[in-house]
Amino acid sequence: MSRRRNLFIFVLLTLSLCCNLLLAIIVSRLGIKTTSEPSQHVCNTSSSEQSEPKSPYAGLERDYKIPFSWITDYSSGNEEAANELWEAISIDTGIIALSSEEITTKDLPQSQPFPWDTDMSIYLVEGYHNLHCLKNIHRSLVEFRNGLNQSRSWPHITHCVDALRQDIMCNADDTPRYSTQSKGKATGIGQYRRCRNWAKLEAWTKQHSSCFKFINETDDDLNNLERFKYCPPGSPYTEKVKQYFGDLVQ
Ligand SMILES: *[C@@H]1O[C@H](CO)[C@@H](O)[C@H](O)[C@H]1NC(C)=O
Ligand SMILES: *[C@@H]1O[C@H](CO)[C@@H](O)[C@H](O)[C@H]1NC(C)=O
Ligand SMILES: *[C@@H]1O[C@H](CO)[C@@H](O)[C@H](O)[C@H]1NC(C)=O
Repeated sequence: MSRRRNLFIFVLLTLSLCCNLLLAIIVSRLGIKTTSEPSQHVCNTSSSEQSEPKSPYAGLERDYKIPFSWITDYSSGNEEAANELWEAISIDTGIIALSSEEITTKDLPQSQPFPWDTDMSIYLVEGYHNLHCLKNIHRSLVEFRNGLNQSRSWPHITHCVDALRQDIMCNADDTPRYSTQSKGKATGIGQYRRCRNWAKLEAWTKQHSSCFKFINETDDDLNNLERFKYCPPGSPYTEKVKQYFGDLVQ
């Protein structure tokens, strides 16, 4: 009798386990958002995407797989922590100095001269301009939400929104995001795509450092040279900066 009962309980437990598994599969199929973690919608990118040529300036490839995420630390419920992350975004390294040879080879338009080497000119890398804009828009929203005065002018903010629109349309990203039937109508969450690696762009900009630091962003009257005296260790311009500003600078 007792063995039959044990068998009965075993069968019941097995059935229950199967039901749970089935439920889990159904839930994942429906794409119902149970957590903000990437789900199993891992898909390899097509071969055509893999053969995309390297980016023309820093030579970046789409060699980095990142899933779309619904919530990241930049949009989490912990607004204070999120705001800190946004404010910590720095565009300093995105202001680079390129030699006249690079400018000619890459067919770039002329640009303002670099103060510490007459053969070089100063450029702002597009990705960093976009980040600068996004940071400004975010700051404006936070100020609005908290009833504070706007620290950036309205034309600056609308310029930034439009700059991002132009960039989105220029890139014409054709990645199809999977869709779900769930109420939230979430798309793409956890779906992998091939990205360029921001760290590699950062490394490239650092190789072309212009010693720039965006100190006192709101001060339009600041002598521009003041922002070009922050040379990283080993920079070929450190001596020039010291000659100009004196030894106290570094
Ligand atoms: C993705 O590609 C890898 C090898 O490149 C392969 O092993 C894997 O099965 C592929 N995954 C899918 C979901 O197609
Ligand atoms: C916003 O600016 C106005 C005018 O400059 C000033 O009177 C007011 O105190 C400021 N408000 C806040 C919250 O800083
Ligand atoms: C930034 O510039 C403004 C305007 O010139 C000035 O009032 C302010 O003191 C400066 N802030 C710092 C930290 O130097």
